[in-house]
Amino acid sequence: MNVGILKETSSGETRVALVPALLETLKEKGYETLVESGAGLASGHEDSDYRDAGATILPDAASVYSKADLIFRVPVPTVDDIGKMREGSVLVSYLWPLQNHDLNQKLVDKKVTAFSLDMVPRITRAQSMDVRSAMNTVDGYKATLLAASELGKFCPMLMTAAGTIRPSRALILGAGVAGLQVISTCRRLGCIVEAFDVRPAVKEQVESLGAKFVEFDVADGEDAGGYAKALDEDQQAQQLKLIHKHIAECDIVIATALIPGRKAPVLVTEAMLQDMRNGSVVVDLAASQGGNCEGSEPDKTVVKHGVTIMGPTNLPATVPVHASQMYSKVVTNLLFEFTGENGFEVNTDNEVTAGCMITHGGEIVHDRVRETMGLPKRQTTPEPEPETDSEPAASASA
Ligand code: NAI
Repeated sequence: MNVGILKETSSGETRVALVPALLETLKEKGYETLVESGAGLASGHEDSDYRDAGATILPDAASVYSKADLIFRVPVPTVDDIGKMREGSVLVSYLWPLQNHDLNQKLVDKKVTAFSLDMVPRITRAQSMDVRSAMNTVDGYKATLLAASELGKFCPMLMTAAGTIRPSRALILGAGVAGLQVISTCRRLGCIVEAFDVRPAVKEQVESLGAKFVEFDVADGEDAGGYAKALDEDQQAQQLKLIHKHIAECDIVIATALIPGRKAPVLVTEAMLQDMRNGSVVVDLAASQGGNCEGSEPDKTVVKHGVTIMGPTNLPATVPVHASQMYSKVVTNLLFEFTGENGFEVNTDNEVTAGCMITHGGEIVHDRVRETMGLPKRQTTPEPEPETDSEPAASASA
């Protein structure tokens, strides 16, 4: 089987889905690689690096689409992209299938077996296949650097002959994967860091990174799967009051709070911006999902009440070398989850496969996706009747 790698063309994208260093491992499992010429240039990889690692370089995207059995992508493909794929081939990519119904339908029409990276179940065994966590690490790191370079201050305390500089203060809202990376990067830069989350379980992790956890007494902020739940009105009001109290002292606010399947909660209000110090910086990593900060705009920098508010939506593309390296490792691990002794296989008894396989054999095979598209549940083969002592099964008596 061969794996096709394309040059990503969506605006601002610099990552490549597979770096040359992974080709040897893929080959050991029986996968050859086809690479569109120039696919790795923006992340520092020449065609010759891929060729030396054993890939076949093809002149254009059309040649990759026409020959690839399986395609790895970084951004969500368009309906047109799917139209160019070979019928019955395999796709591993972000798809956001709960929203992108036209795309799902096109995958069905082309009988593509499609795995959505954003639907990989977040179970311990699948951590090494979780592309969102890998990219959230990049988000957290780069958001901190953006904030630090926008701030007109030093981050660390400095004692110089020209006087003592006090350290800057950072408040981190949401201490999931991105938030924890923000905390450790802020600490490395020398900031005093406070962090806030509705899941009390993260207190220990926050403190182990050297930040102070802002205590908020919410007993049921977490669901059974370990994710944040939406707060009720009263809890929300209490939360905003608490953040307001802490935010006025801050130089940097980095907001990463998300609730699965919902619009991001607003945690920084206009009234808080008014009370923040002039020249402070807010980086809103939830800007593409409605925003944690009032007034933030996706991919824009705006100034309100003297506070600079940034809403970057694709920070991994600004760290293309390591983001591509991490992305490649994660998608390769995922492919190996679908690889048996005889190569690629679809095993729906595998929890990871069942969680992220969206289409197969000309059908939507994911129940949640079917539900969002208004499709009935799939017909499954009925379980055989259990055998009883009084009526032995035909095969047993024959
Ligand atoms: P996320 O990206 O869904 O949300 C970011 C953070 O925002 C979370 O910590 C959440 O509790 C917090 N948040 C939500 N509403 C908030 C509010 N109103 N105020 C303050 N904070 C709020 O979360 P992420 O990064 O996906 O992590 C969630 C959990 O999933 C973590 O415990 C993480 O360790 C776990 N996880 C497990 C994986 C696996 O086992 N494969 C992979 C990735 C994450």
